[in-house]
Amino acid sequence: MKKAIKITDNVYYVGAHDYNLRDFHGSMYPINEGATYNAYLIVDEKITLIDTVEIDFYDEMLERIRSIIGDRMIDNIIIQHAESDHSSAFMKLMNEYPKAKAYVSISGKRAMLAQFFKDYDYQSVKTGDTLNIGRGTLTFIEMPMIHWPDNMATYFDDDRILFSNDAFGQHIISFKKFDDDYDYSYLIAKAKEYYANIVMPYGKNVLNKLKAIADLELAIDYIAPSHGIIWHKYIGKMLADYKDFASLKSKDKVVIVYESVWNNTKTIAETLAEGLGQNDIEPKVYKLSKTDSSLILSELLDAKALLIGSGCYNNTLASEICSFIDKAISLNIKDKYVGTFGSYGWNKLPIVNMDKKAENIGILLEDFNIAINYAPTQEDLEAVYEKAQKLAEFLKEKN
Ligand code: FEO
Repeated sequence: MKKAIKITDNVYYVGAHDYNLRDFHGSMYPINEGATYNAYLIVDEKITLIDTVEIDFYDEMLERIRSIIGDRMIDNIIIQHAESDHSSAFMKLMNEYPKAKAYVSISGKRAMLAQFFKDYDYQSVKTGDTLNIGRGTLTFIEMPMIHWPDNMATYFDDDRILFSNDAFGQHIISFKKFDDDYDYSYLIAKAKEYYANIVMPYGKNVLNKLKAIADLELAIDYIAPSHGIIWHKYIGKMLADYKDFASLKSKDKVVIVYESVWNNTKTIAETLAEGLGQNDIEPKVYKLSKTDSSLILSELLDAKALLIGSGCYNNTLASEICSFIDKAISLNIKDKYVGTFGSYGWNKLPIVNMDKKAENIGILLEDFNIAINYAPTQEDLEAVYEKAQKLAEFLKEKN
């Protein structure tokens, strides 16, 4: 038996709890505690639903909706984002509420048609368009590329809520829907992880949109995203931190990722960590095949540099490293420094040529590439340590 959760006098949470989800958006974002697909019902003279849920959770959403409006009809459905976690239950819902009008951004309409093939007389809206629903009015704000072209936010003036869709989301699954119930450090770590894994490539769009929303001078008491809890008490702090995320503001920290079979590349990685750590640059060291990529990306968001290490596998690198380099290229972190290292047996080329791949990630560290034959000698390790020391001095100057 699923019931709506009251948010304000007129607004209810009618979304779904996906307790068993461990891979958010395929294998792109491993998570530990499940996720929510937030849908919100506004009960005004007109009944309006903000977003739907992933299709497997349709019944849960409908139960929550009916617990509030019974047999009353929904008048408006706002499709803030065409990605399936928010839109795939829409068509089924239209069978239940066939007279509901669907509002969507222009590119959202294109995406809905391209995915679900049926036109529902979608009403296209753009930034600044409004919809009166009784006492209150909805104002639409396009949020292109945060993180799809069609993302949109909706402001409800009566309860001063900004429904922000994917922006400002986090993967917290709980009946305690407001930030007041949590420590800020826990919340912002979750929001940072979400940002790093979903939004990081679009920092410029985020910065522009944060400014555009500030310029609208909306009175905002709540920011209600489509995943996780609702921001209320910590809105100001969270927006300030989001600005830092979007500008990739970095600390004296380096992320070291590697793959190693016989511990030679591992020894290089840990010697680099020693040289950095002993010189006031915090190293975060991860063996890729043993670490969730979501953690690595979260740490990378505010690191100054990324060092990537691999052993040699016949004539190429470890497959995990190849795939990580591709992922790192997609993150658009071009102002972070990147260096490469590894151990090889009889073929040096994969290691010395790593720089050619890594230079597409960010700013390649000149003369950094470390290629060591089989096991590093004491002399090799001293040279690696010295390289890390020099890197630490270099990075400390970059603030
Ligand atoms: Fe939560 Fe872009 O979907």
